[in-house]
Amino acid sequence: MKVLVTGGAGFIGSHVVRRLVTMYPEYQIYNLDALTYAGNLENLKDIDTSPNYTFIKADITDASHIQELFETHAFDKVIHLAAESHVDRSIEDPLAFVKTNIMGTMNLLNACKSIWKGEMQDHLFYHISTDEVYGSLGIDGLFTEDNSYSPNSPYAASKASSDHFVRAYGETYDLPYIISNCSNNYGPNHFPEKLIPLFINNIIEMRPLPVYGDGNYTRDWLYVIDHAIAIDTILHNGKTGETYNIGGFNEWKNIDLVHLLCELMDDTLSRKRGTSASLITYVKDRPGHDKRYAIDASKINTELGWKPTVTFEEGLKATVDWYLNNKTWLAQVTSGDYKDYYSKMYTS
Ligand code: NAD
Ligand code: TYD
Repeated sequence: MKVLVTGGAGFIGSHVVRRLVTMYPEYQIYNLDALTYAGNLENLKDIDTSPNYTFIKADITDASHIQELFETHAFDKVIHLAAESHVDRSIEDPLAFVKTNIMGTMNLLNACKSIWKGEMQDHLFYHISTDEVYGSLGIDGLFTEDNSYSPNSPYAASKASSDHFVRAYGETYDLPYIISNCSNNYGPNHFPEKLIPLFINNIIEMRPLPVYGDGNYTRDWLYVIDHAIAIDTILHNGKTGETYNIGGFNEWKNIDLVHLLCELMDDTLSRKRGTSASLITYVKDRPGHDKRYAIDASKINTELGWKPTVTFEEGLKATVDWYLNNKTWLAQVTSGDYKDYYSKMYTS
């Protein structure tokens, strides 16, 4: 079986590629990635000489190249992760998100539709999406698969749009698809623009920790390897035409999470307790900031038997240890353009 993973050099994609390459030596795994600022082949250097792994440098916004690649390789299944993924960047440049997340997804759908014509049932387009498409929750309740979409950021709107097109291609052209909507991931190889890796990096460097607004925003955190296991489970056992919500049953207010991380980092770095917390700085809020996300993951749990394998404390400790043991990776991704990004976003 030939499985195409798009965005496999990114954070979640690299964990998905590693899992499929190592668990299924009989499959051919193709990693298609444009290597934007978020894509990094270093993430896969432990498996990149495996005989069942192939890297393809390509941009999903290039329709004719994508069509040509589908003609050449005849992929059986697609797991689509390639995307612009950071909410703050989507506020600065929404069109980049329309281009990659909507147009890029359309190019993949069109290639699948034309190449798989007449034998649709042997194939699968598995679209990786986010809980952010559902909008924001109040103080209680959970997102189920039946929630209506109500995206609030340009990122969430672009992901919602791509989800709708995937479903529409299923209804209109019989394209076999599955969509999963996952909560916030954390773990090794996470680009230090998102909350947890940004704050780990800033604590190492003793830089301010910019908490948006009052810090009382809630997210549901899942260890990235547990997301990769869920994707593997859905790829093999998920029902075509279904949506699965994936989450960690693990809600944290940002400010409580930041305090937990500060204490863990103080202990790990043998710094006096309170050292990292003294870096906390409340800054201007993100516009359109969603108050709370929380996933009801009971469908994937009861129908497919998936549940997270690590606790938040275990996952966070493993994550902090990974960053401290991979300072070259961190130095590489925070050189060059990252410095411009940081000063643009965090120096008012
Ligand atoms: P990421 O930003 O770390 O990685 C994205 C990858 O896509 C990078 O390797 C990048 O080079 C590649 N890419 C970007 N534009 C491309 C293009 N035009 N053509 C080809 N490749 C391109 O993102 P991530 O956090 O790993 O997220 C992966 C997917 O999972 C996304 O679709 C995202 O919406 C979804 N998701 C992420 C989270 C999360 O917490 N990070 C949660 C739920 C869902
Ligand atoms: P983020 O990691 O960007 O994920 P998302 O916006 O997709 O949930 O942000 C997680 C939470 O942390 C969110 O409520 C915004 C907040 N946040 C900060 O307070 N400061 C920061 O510097 C960043 C990047 C995020």
